[in-house]
Amino acid sequence: MTKNDKNIYHLLQLRYGIIGSSVVMQEAIARLAQVAPTDLSVLITGETGTGKEVFANAIHNMSNRKKQSFISVNCGAIPETLLESELFGHEKGAFTGATEQRKGYFEVAHNGTIFLDEIGEMPVGTQVKLLRVLETGEFNRLGSTQVHKVDVRLIAATNRDLEYEVRRGNFREDLYFRLNAVQIHLPPLRKHPEDIALLVEFFANRICERNGFFFEGVTDEALSILEQHPWRGNIRELRNLVETLVTIEQGGTIDEEQVRRYLKPERFNEPVFVQNNTTALVHVPGPTLPPPSELNLGLVYQTLLQLQQDTNAIKQAFAVMVEKLATMQMNVANQQTTQDDDDGIVWDKNDFRLEEMERKFIVASLRRFEGNRRSAAKALGISERTLYRKLIEYKLTEIV
Ligand SMILES: Nc1ncnc2c1ncn2[C@@H]1O[C@H](COP(=O)(O)OP(=O)(O)OP(=O)(O)O)[C@@H](O)[C@H]1O
Ligand SMILES: [Mg+2]
Repeated sequence: MTKNDKNIYHLLQLRYGIIGSSVVMQEAIARLAQVAPTDLSVLITGETGTGKEVFANAIHNMSNRKKQSFISVNCGAIPETLLESELFGHEKGAFTGATEQRKGYFEVAHNGTIFLDEIGEMPVGTQVKLLRVLETGEFNRLGSTQVHKVDVRLIAATNRDLEYEVRRGNFREDLYFRLNAVQIHLPPLRKHPEDIALLVEFFANRICERNGFFFEGVTDEALSILEQHPWRGNIRELRNLVETLVTIEQGGTIDEEQVRRYLKPERFNEPVFVQNNTTALVHVPGPTLPPPSELNLGLVYQTLLQLQQDTNAIKQAFAVMVEKLATMQMNVANQQTTQDDDDGIVWDKNDFRLEEMERKFIVASLRRFEGNRRSAAKALGISERTLYRKLIEYKLTEIV
């Protein structure tokens, strides 16, 4: 490794929290550093939790577009019928419910980067338009013949096997070839267990610093269990485990007993399928199950932690509702229709329909998050897809 390579790995760790000293990760990181400063489209592939979004962010921030927008679009969260107008915008009257003209994400991302997550979920019709904008920079808003031109860099990610999707006719071959020209493959964690020690140390130190705990390290026995775990949720799953464990144990040393207690018990017994040289799938028994007492204790801790988080979320939601109800009652008592200063909701003293309230909360939350649907959905406690459905149901697609 040259001195320059070392500097890059150090920078990626410090600035973007990207860890990995195994050969496979170093290859991915080297490719990242190589393509980031260019304008090339990049396809990032890998299972869930392998770091696709982390890499996409780093690519943008290491490019000379870093001061411009980074627009992240989850193609899998937007209903197929809306995706095209979300990406390319539409004119007033382009379809039922299009009561206003609207810019698409490509226009918003002009001079910046667009990150199309879960690109394997994109309908074939939209793929054609994506290929056009990639090749010529041109697109039309839905319902318009006027050609718009943009300069946008594309980063796409998928956890699907796109080659297989091409064979099945779900993904256009021409788009696949174009995207695949620069691919960064992020390996599953089970393929680079030698990075686990570094990752554990990184996540544990980070959480200890935030909470004022002291992390003393991990024992060889504990590390060996972690290195043999299948990590179906990859680095995200490892991070969650380390953060839970270190928070509950308030730092200290991670030992075998703790790891067995907190590691998701059902995973110990999951069958692992591997390919033998005659290409048949072979069942290999998973690692042995821990004694029932430890298994149950692990479950209890996980459940308690989850319960505590759920309770806090419910408490917060209740506090907001109580506040709103109090305002409503006051308004009713005052016998007048008033305006809520905070989020612009107009409460009608005679209107108690739950649907109407839901609609108002949706509008208020979209306003609060300046039209960011991902944040609004999160604040409302619903999925992005449900939010989209409700926006159509309440004819609110135009308000942002
Ligand atoms: N190389 C890495 N070094 C340190 N942490 C990482 C790395 N890769 C991923 N992580 C951690 O794992 C988490 C999940 O990563 P990320 O969201 O990028 O995964 P993903 O591949 O986009 O997953 P999904 O397909 O589920 O969206 C990140 O928030 C980060 O904490
Ligand atoms: Mg992701």
